[in-house]
Amino acid sequence: MGSSWGNLFSPHCIVLLLLNVTHCFSFVQTVERSGHVDECSALFQFKESFTVNKSASVHLFAFPKVASWKREGDQNRSNCCSWKGVECDEESGHVVGLDLSSSCLYGSLNSNSSLFQLVHLQRLDLSDNDFHFSEIPSRLGHDLTNLTYLNLSLSGFSGQLPTSLGYLLSLNFLDISNCKFHPHVPSSLGNLTQLRYLDMSSFYEVSNNFSTGQGIDSWSWVGKLTKLHTLLLTETNITGKFLCFMANLTKLEHLNLATNEISGQIPSWFMKLAKLSTLLLGQNNLQGEIPRSLFQLKNLESLGLAYNNLSGLVEFDQFFQLKKLKVLRLSYNKLSLHIKTNLSFTLPQLQVLRLGSCNLTELPEFLRSQYELTDLYLGQNNIHGRIPKWLWNATRETLFTLDLSDNFLTGFEQNPIILPWKNLITLNLWSNLIQGSLPIPPQSIRNYIVPENHYSGEIPPSFCNLNHLHILDLSNNNLSGMLPQCLGNSSGLEIFTLNSNSFHGNIPQLCPTGESSLKMVDLSYNQLQGKVPRSIANCTLLEFFNLGNNQISDIFPSWLGTLPALSILILRSNGFHGMIGKSATNHDFPKLCIIDLSNNDFSGMLPSNYLENWNSMKFVDKSSEQAYFVVSSTSDSSGGYAFLYSITTFEKGVELDYFQTPYLLRLIDFSSNRFEGEIPAGIIGNLRALISLNLSNNALTGHIPSSLGNLTDLESLDLSRNQLSGRIPSNLAKLNFLEYFNVSHNYLRGPIPGGQQFETFLEDSYQGNSGLCGKALSKKCESSISLPPSIFEEDEDSGFQIELDWYVVLPGAISGLIVGVVAGNFWTSKNHEWFVETISRSKKPRGTRARRGHRN
Ligand SMILES: *[C@@H]1O[C@H](CO)[C@@H](O)[C@H](O)[C@H]1NC(C)=O
Ligand SMILES: *[C@@H]1O[C@H](CO)[C@@H](O)[C@H](O)[C@H]1NC(C)=O
Ligand SMILES: *[C@@H]1O[C@H](CO)[C@@H](O)[C@H](O)[C@H]1NC(C)=O
Ligand SMILES: *[C@@H]1O[C@H](CO)[C@@H](O)[C@H](O)[C@H]1NC(C)=O
Ligand SMILES: *[C@@H]1O[C@H](CO)[C@@H](O)[C@H](O)[C@H]1NC(C)=O
Ligand SMILES: *[C@@H]1O[C@H](CO)[C@@H](O)[C@H](O)[C@H]1NC(C)=O
Ligand SMILES: *[C@@H]1O[C@H](CO)[C@@H](O)[C@H](O)[C@H]1NC(C)=O
Ligand SMILES: *[C@@H]1O[C@H](CO)[C@@H](O)[C@H](O)[C@H]1NC(C)=O
Ligand SMILES: *[C@@H]1O[C@H](CO)[C@@H](O)[C@H](O)[C@H]1NC(C)=O
Ligand SMILES: *[C@@H]1O[C@H](CO)[C@@H](O)[C@H](O)[C@H]1NC(C)=O
Ligand SMILES: *[C@@H]1O[C@H](CO)[C@@H](O)[C@H](O)[C@H]1NC(C)=O
Ligand SMILES: *[C@@H]1O[C@H](CO)[C@@H](O)[C@H](O)[C@H]1NC(C)=O
Repeated sequence: MGSSWGNLFSPHCIVLLLLNVTHCFSFVQTVERSGHVDECSALFQFKESFTVNKSASVHLFAFPKVASWKREGDQNRSNCCSWKGVECDEESGHVVGLDLSSSCLYGSLNSNSSLFQLVHLQRLDLSDNDFHFSEIPSRLGHDLTNLTYLNLSLSGFSGQLPTSLGYLLSLNFLDISNCKFHPHVPSSLGNLTQLRYLDMSSFYEVSNNFSTGQGIDSWSWVGKLTKLHTLLLTETNITGKFLCFMANLTKLEHLNLATNEISGQIPSWFMKLAKLSTLLLGQNNLQGEIPRSLFQLKNLESLGLAYNNLSGLVEFDQFFQLKKLKVLRLSYNKLSLHIKTNLSFTLPQLQVLRLGSCNLTELPEFLRSQYELTDLYLGQNNIHGRIPKWLWNATRETLFTLDLSDNFLTGFEQNPIILPWKNLITLNLWSNLIQGSLPIPPQSIRNYIVPENHYSGEIPPSFCNLNHLHILDLSNNNLSGMLPQCLGNSSGLEIFTLNSNSFHGNIPQLCPTGESSLKMVDLSYNQLQGKVPRSIANCTLLEFFNLGNNQISDIFPSWLGTLPALSILILRSNGFHGMIGKSATNHDFPKLCIIDLSNNDFSGMLPSNYLENWNSMKFVDKSSEQAYFVVSSTSDSSGGYAFLYSITTFEKGVELDYFQTPYLLRLIDFSSNRFEGEIPAGIIGNLRALISLNLSNNALTGHIPSSLGNLTDLESLDLSRNQLSGRIPSNLAKLNFLEYFNVSHNYLRGPIPGGQQFETFLEDSYQGNSGLCGKALSKKCESSISLPPSIFEEDEDSGFQIELDWYVVLPGAISGLIVGVVAGNFWTSKNHEWFVETISRSKKPRGTRARRGHRN
């Protein structure tokens, strides 16, 4: 059910639903008769010019339609009209329709392609294939002039859009969204005056090198397309203010300009577009007040203005003039909504209401009579008190998503409570002041998100029956008791974060069946005991596993090494013990980026045989645009949720709390164990992406390997409290980013290296090594090898390549920060406004710091 609802309530598809659907999907049944021989053979050649490649299509139901295309023995008697995706005209027998959407085609389309022999084509759908950066041959415009429908969406086309497209004078539908074209659009498209539907959303990759944001005036040709009823231009980096050419488009019913850089005020000429039923302007830079003229658009059903800079006090009852309104999104502007409590007139029945960060102080009373709500988002307001009964009385049957996160709610009017919404999919009460026991959700629940509250008591046994759970986030509450063993049973569970509570007893057998979706498990900061359940070896999608700060007593779970996606493993502060031994294979922990085994009772040699294979610590692609480690759950009616990995580490001599973990962070912390023997010089020197290495407080002997000088990204190196001897290798002075260095309490001797970062380290870094000498120490060297300080004038902040976003907080770490609603599957969701909400939230994540300030 999830995905079908997903389509129904995302604006993009409302657009489709309201269209004359028969035009969208008018590839009628193929006609069982012979086609023209030349056309059949052209089709066959067309097929032959591609390979079939499953990964060329992303649609779930993609299949190679051409696979069944067969030429019969007698080449001149073709039956191509019965081939899948081929439509022939009943009278003439000509091929008039070709629907090869999601057909796994892979290869290039050239100007000599036999496709252009199909001159009678009226409908051509090549969407969702991979034409591998082909340019659209200009022959398309010259030869296929009878096209009325052309869909090249998500097909990997690139290059300049040919001017000849302007010759397709019969086109009614043009969809070139989600391609890789050059951002410059030929103005000849203004010739396509018969167009009724134009989708150019993300027609070029906004992230590519063309930083030629198209000013809105370069779109003025759109003003000639006066028959348009649907215009979708999301994520096309349109900049500048609205120009009045749009006022020409008086037939427009659906306008989506979300996720651009449009600035200025919402112009009053919008009232001329009297047929508008969908108006989506979210995620732009619009300023000023919401103009009164907007309330004259009596046909509006969906209005999206979220994520702009709109400001002012808004009398909310104005929206009720829009009698057909079903979807209203105003979140994250600078609006202050004033909602009258006693509204006498009949209100439109809303389905989606999203009023995040709208300065609300109470739950709006008009919700009392909203009987069709499916999605209610009132996050980040100042709503105090309890959730009243009338809220659920009206929405009991309809509500799928309830998000009241980041308010000051103290609970439900009834407690203990069984949640009354029968079909609820998402409950998000993150960061409120709710006390009492956990509310029991209906069977339908997928996302149960209640971290940062004051919930207490145990997890009710009825949670065992929640077979559809994808997210269970109970972190940072006062929950206690044992974890029901059944909890891991839901095979759809992706996010399982129970950290920072007081749970005790054994860890449940996660992934018991081998079929598992688990990506993130955070059980840190509890009092869990026993061993790490072996079933976790079956959690093949696991990326993040944090058992830190519990009372687990076990040997090193080397069998986790087979997990192909595991990036972060934290076993800190438990009772892990014994030698780590040898890795069974030479590709254990292939994706590991962060490992924290500190504060346990491990003994024996450092696990060099593992270290040798941690390739993710050897090289890191710094050009990656991903800023943070993030896990996203699959999407549902209201999108999905993205979780940042938040971890607490002990680096740079202090406890650091990353509420979002930088994607470039590579960290090894083996401190405070009983490791002995030498540091494996050659192997450590290969982990060149390491940012932080902490081996302190063990029993390591031998020298500090000079190969550490090769770890040029290192920012923090702690070797203190061991039995290391010899000199500090002078080539450590090469470590330009080293911010923290500690070799105190060893048996080191000789001069400390001079220059660069080493000028900044104070005596603390070296104390307890009676044989060391140097400028930072009271014991000066007899013949100092330190260079004169003038050469190395220090600018503390200069030269740090990776600006890590960390800061110090006290223990009691916040984890599992929810970034917001994100799409599971980027291309279908790109045009949806709910996707918009995520991007923005992750751009400006709300720091725990700020939130704590405001809480206290
Ligand atoms: C074009 O194809 C895509 C993907 O197959 C589909 O989602 C979209 O609705 C189509 N566009 C039109 C106008 O039918
Ligand atoms: C299959 O398609 C994917 C992406 O479309 C491409 O990366 C890959 O190289 C293709 N494989 C073959 C064998 O052509
Ligand atoms: C098919 O038709 C062409 C002429 O259109 C002819 O030259 C050819 O011999 C025919 N082939 C067969 C196998 O009948
Ligand atoms: C089409 O042109 C390309 C070069 O542009 C050539 O490699 C290919 O062989 C040609 N195909 C046909 C069927 O002529
Ligand atoms: C294109 O459409 C027109 C009008 O429907 C028709 O007269 C003409 O024959 C068509 N051309 C082709 C090549 O099918
Ligand atoms: C298309 O528009 C361009 C100007 O944008 C014009 O020069 C050209 O003649 C037009 N072509 C047709 C076929 O209408
Ligand atoms: C968007 O356009 C502006 C200029 O108008 C440009 O500076 C910016 O780099 C563009 N952004 C992207 C992602 O293309
Ligand atoms: C508005 O539409 C008319 C045709 O209806 C056209 O002549 C005119 O150029 C258009 N105006 C703009 C600004 O595009
Ligand atoms: C929020 O609303 C209160 C009244 O409820 C008002 O005094 C305050 O100025 C508003 N804040 C903003 C930022 O508009
Ligand atoms: C609950 O809803 C019904 C209509 O469905 C209404 O008659 C009744 O007054 C409501 N009760 C409360 C407490 O709001
Ligand atoms: C992994 O799953 C399989 C079933 O697919 C099961 O037989 C096996 O015991 C599981 N492994 C562990 C370690 O639980
Ligand atoms: C450091 O790396 C260089 C190659 O970049 C290599 O030649 C050298 O042996 C390495 N030094 C150590 C001590 O591993």
